[in-house]
Amino acid sequence: MTLRLGVNIDHVATLRNARGGRHPDPLRAAMIAAEAGADGITAHLREDRRHIRDLDIERLKARMTLPLNLEMAATPEMTDLAVHIQPHAACLVPERREERTTEGGLDVAGQIDRLTPLIARLSDAKIRVSLFIEPDRAQLDAASKVGAPVVELHTGAYCDGEGAVRHRELLRLQIAAAHAAELGLECHAGHGLGFDTVGPVAAISTLAELNIGHFLIGEAVFLGLEEAIRRMRRAMTEARGR
Ligand code: PXP
Repeated sequence: MTLRLGVNIDHVATLRNARGGRHPDPLRAAMIAAEAGADGITAHLREDRRHIRDLDIERLKARMTLPLNLEMAATPEMTDLAVHIQPHAACLVPERREERTTEGGLDVAGQIDRLTPLIARLSDAKIRVSLFIEPDRAQLDAASKVGAPVVELHTGAYCDGEGAVRHRELLRLQIAAAHAAELGLECHAGHGLGFDTVGPVAAISTLAELNIGHFLIGEAVFLGLEEAIRRMRRAMTEARGR
């Protein structure tokens, strides 16, 4: 299975919004990502619009050649918006206004009745739905139950952990990816990945896609965005080949 790279461009917008105005432009970042070999663009339209804004999504949809993966809160309002936007895929994430980034996965097991109709509505609109979850068996079983074709495993605890903790978290990711395959779910992963953490995750053979943002945008300050993405792609390919 080939491993796709989705580049998350949220933090290009964070930088732009720090000053107002139009620079740096997330659409330009998406174009550069396409040149550098990204397979898709991910953008999180948060309810508070703190980084990506509605106009960014409109421009990405109109001008970009790569598939758009829209990250969004699992609410009826955001579902209406997604049906209107028509991204290639929608990744449902937990969202709290006070958080700095997406902390923890979606509690699918605890919200089966609430999530099932939202997922059906997105699927009926031909949007491929993924659920951002912790690498946890109960959440995977619930994801299968609510009818999502894709899950994205949260790699935050693995990236933040050190030594034995990181090793244990990697094992959780490996076990979860194997269970996703047993359930027939397409499996993605992401959050917090960088050059020093991507290899062991990319080596999990049943993963189909990694979504990476903050590290790449940060590294672009030093290497340029195109080179940062090229190096990430190379690291992923090398890890897969081993
Ligand atoms: N995947 C999901 C579902 C996310 O919410 C995020 C963060 O927006 C990412 C991947 C990318 O995480 P990072 O920016 O830490 O690479």
